Amino acid sequence: MATATLPGRQSLIGVAVPRIDGPLKTSGSAQYAVDYNFPRLAHAAAVQSTIGKGKIRSLDASAAERMPGVLLVLHHGNMEKVFRLFRGQDEGNTSESRPPFEDENVYYWGQYVALVVADTLEQATAAADAVRVEYDAETPDVTTNLGDFPAGMRTTSKRGDPDKALAEAPVTVDETYTTPAETHNPMEMHGTVAVWEGDSVTLYESSQGVVNHRTVMAEALGIPRENVRVISRFIGSGFGGKLFPWPHSTLAAVAARKLDRPVKLSVDRRMMFTSVGHRPITQQRIRLGATTDGKLTAIRHDFLNHTSIGDDIVERCGEQTPFLYSCANLAVSNALVKRNIGTPTPMRGPGAVPGLFALESAMDELAIKLKMDPLDLRYKNDAVRDEGANLPFSSRHLKECWQVGADKIGWSKRTPQPASMRRDGKIIGLGLGSASWGAARIPCEATVELCPNGRVCVRCATQDIGTGTYTIFAQVMQEKTGVPLDRIDVFLGDSSLPPGPTSGGSMATSAVLPAATSAVSSAVTRLLHIAALSPSSPFYGAKAEDLALINGRVHMKEQPPVRGVAFRDDNLPRVHPPAGGMAFEEIINLAGMSGINASGRTFPSFEDPKARAYSLHSYGAHFAEVEWEPDIARLRVSRIVSVFDCGRIINPKAGMNQIQGAAVMGVGMALLEETLYDSRTGQTINGSFADYLVATCADLPELDVTFLDYPDLIVNEYGARGIGEIGMAGVAPAITAAVYHATGVRVRDLPVRIEDLLQSKIA
Ligand code: MOS
Repeated sequence: MATATLPGRQSLIGVAVPRIDGPLKTSGSAQYAVDYNFPRLAHAAAVQSTIGKGKIRSLDASAAERMPGVLLVLHHGNMEKVFRLFRGQDEGNTSESRPPFEDENVYYWGQYVALVVADTLEQATAAADAVRVEYDAETPDVTTNLGDFPAGMRTTSKRGDPDKALAEAPVTVDETYTTPAETHNPMEMHGTVAVWEGDSVTLYESSQGVVNHRTVMAEALGIPRENVRVISRFIGSGFGGKLFPWPHSTLAAVAARKLDRPVKLSVDRRMMFTSVGHRPITQQRIRLGATTDGKLTAIRHDFLNHTSIGDDIVERCGEQTPFLYSCANLAVSNALVKRNIGTPTPMRGPGAVPGLFALESAMDELAIKLKMDPLDLRYKNDAVRDEGANLPFSSRHLKECWQVGADKIGWSKRTPQPASMRRDGKIIGLGLGSASWGAARIPCEATVELCPNGRVCVRCATQDIGTGTYTIFAQVMQEKTGVPLDRIDVFLGDSSLPPGPTSGGSMATSAVLPAATSAVSSAVTRLLHIAALSPSSPFYGAKAEDLALINGRVHMKEQPPVRGVAFRDDNLPRVHPPAGGMAFEEIINLAGMSGINASGRTFPSFEDPKARAYSLHSYGAHFAEVEWEPDIARLRVSRIVSVFDCGRIINPKAGMNQIQGAAVMGVGMALLEETLYDSRTGQTINGSFADYLVATCADLPELDVTFLDYPDLIVNEYGARGIGEIGMAGVAPAITAAVYHATGVRVRDLPVRIEDLLQSKIA
């Protein structure tokens, strides 16, 4: 681009820009879903089943209905018609397909059986306690052991003859790994404020996908999409739990319609463990075959995950297995196991995170059997082509992730014998785990407006779940117009805006970049044409191609956009442009326009033959160091070095936060997180922040994150892939490998427990 060399042009792409929404959040002025209040707002409280399986025999709401302030008790007996939902389509993805209160059956503990609405939250909560429900209870099946792998599992990837290769392999590993149910616990809990106006409803919701939420709610309520508006301006994260609507949203909408009053329904922390999804239990058998010098000859990955009675949710643990390593013989198969637990849903790095715990743990075990350095085993089996999809990689630098990470953590000084390394009287263990996650360009539309007040506005119905999407849009606007960030307004989180992607699958950034770029580029092109064609413009008569917009000023390309530089060009006699160009808003005002609008869209990679010819994935590696004090059985994760290949990094600060946060979540996965269910009732036993442990600041290791920053131009013009989920993959196996190295104890069932470590023979 010729203009790129002109003075004064500075791009903020690739710069660690602080989040533009930060001040709103830290000052408490950002409004989250249940912060919205309206005149005549009524408050709802849910009544949840206290059995895990069975039928409602009777429901007596009469006492509750007589209590002060109570407006409505909604239940199966008086529920308005709402509709069934089906998942798995491109549009309208839901979580629980059963409409709330559909019948008197109970499938899991905590299922909604009634909803009380009252003038105040206290009245609603008190009355909810007064709803008498009697059940015909059966014993729920909440067994965490998923049992034997059944015959006839579904095979999703196969090549060569893995069984024959396993039988012939001189060295094999055959182990089973399990991960427990993990519950998303974002800071902001779920909630809905439903406000009807005539036949239309606005839902203030904590949603990772306002467009999808609108589509699903229109189907649930049986009304046209244009009659539903979903607003999620700020979100206290989601981790996948807010990708798809949950029944509380439907209940709030139905209650508000019935009462003709706005209704607020909050999901509290305890309900977070029953009613809005979780990562399901996985059980994975990995079989590896290798030559004596460590070349993989066979991989079999069989896995089970639990799902709910009503919905078939596959946790795709085998997604990375076919392409992470080079291996001629491979099979990935899976099956589902039904449990009386609410419907599972994606949680940060669904499939990949538990899947790579199993695969990478098995690779560590294979290295030990081979008496080979686990890092050398990875190098030896690195793939140069996606052997699962039979496609070239668009851009893969996993080997460099391993190399850089190994250097940073000092891998070359690692002695392989368990408990052979000590520091300050503690035993040190080192382990590594690889990570991968898919990349794609999903559809997105955006509009950009150059405003007569000198501001640039960009609009898109995607949302920022805390990851930095507002800021990414602003950075693109800044780059293409030169207008500073404090004069850029980004409007997201409203389904009435041009349709944007769900903040999921780590694909929001790669989806919004092309739409934002093309919208702002079109707006600038329109501006330059107007500058050239409008008789009141000082550039009237110039060729639009000879004009540029830099630093927010329109000017002749040959002339710097700086005041005080004289302009003379006798070849352009009709043009009398001001020295230093003219602010873009002055052009708009001189032309008598209200603003200059343009739209842009992202062409999805799955419709793009060029992108479809490649395997699109991000890669990374975590190296974990643990400290083990055998005398007091104390284990700490002391250090995690993470090196990631996620394409070009648009904002290193926001990107770094993603990997750091994911690494912390990975520490929780490895050492703490496990949702427990009572085998008698199906109740979540540890459904609170006191009992369900997540990693906190006190558990933090030293975090060291590096991005390789190789642009992947197959994905978009900036070369950016996604970062959100991949950082959680590979952490747990790096930690359990380090635990083995420190203690000699191999933990195959997460989380690592003190009881496991007490088996250590090392004193
Ligand atoms: Mo991610 S589990 O798609 O929010």
